[in-house]
Amino acid sequence: MTTIIDGKLCAKKILDKLRNKTAKLEKKPSLAVILANNDESSKLYVASKEKTSNSLGFESCVYRFDKSITQGELIKLIHELNENPNINGILVQLPLYEHLDSQEIIELINPKKDVDGFHPINVGRLNCGLEPYAICCTPKGIIKLLKEYEINLVGKNVVVIGRSNIVGKPTSTLLMNENATVTLAHSKTKNLKEITKTADIIVSATGVAKLIKADMVKKGAVVIDVGINKQSNGKLIGDVDFDKVKNIASFITPVPGGVGPMTIACLMENTYELFLTQNGLQDAKF
Ligand code: GUN
Repeated sequence: MTTIIDGKLCAKKILDKLRNKTAKLEKKPSLAVILANNDESSKLYVASKEKTSNSLGFESCVYRFDKSITQGELIKLIHELNENPNINGILVQLPLYEHLDSQEIIELINPKKDVDGFHPINVGRLNCGLEPYAICCTPKGIIKLLKEYEINLVGKNVVVIGRSNIVGKPTSTLLMNENATVTLAHSKTKNLKEITKTADIIVSATGVAKLIKADMVKKGAVVIDVGINKQSNGKLIGDVDFDKVKNIASFITPVPGGVGPMTIACLMENTYELFLTQNGLQDAKF
């Protein structure tokens, strides 16, 4: 029997708790989101972040820019948001317009307001096994899903495919911190199938539709699909050939409705936690 992992339900549980806790606060957590690209998917992600934030009773503001925005103007905005005591989390939606330097912008965000956990201080602390101010949302969401379904990670062979700073690398780090044995494969990896066949758990974050075929998966493996690939008919599909792989896996995430909702839920949790830290508050009991 294969279990289809319900990311929507798990995300809803996190959001419901956050909504209850937020209702008891006098001052509300606040999130600033910067959208400086014209990509349709990014626009949808940002709209969804804004909607979810509002639904929790957070304060949110979205700064949308057209292509005339300069690096200098963006730097000025980051400084203003860093200084503004009413802003707890700053998120710069990636990618930025090509003429902008995203790494410079990320490094200017105050690490205490870095709700994405992308600042080198937060990445470095995670890599050292120390607590960062925030942990990258998608990797955090993946670990929460695995824990929610009581999937043991200790000593498990996990193959992560994709080496991005947003998903692949931090997911590998978190899994190592959970005592998994991690292999990080990527676009230049040779004999991918031989490697994935050894995996107790596969995490695919490549953006290549249906890359992971049934013959690449060991019977009973856990399959986590981070890919969101838009087909020409507008339908979203993952990196995994879901209909075939689901007959082999013990647990599998669907696309949509798997990892995606967890990313947003973890973003909201990070916003809430940064709010608490910045205000010297303890987590509310509920
Ligand atoms: N672009 C794709 N995923 C993400 C994310 O998690 N955070 C930001 N800031 N940009 C993204």
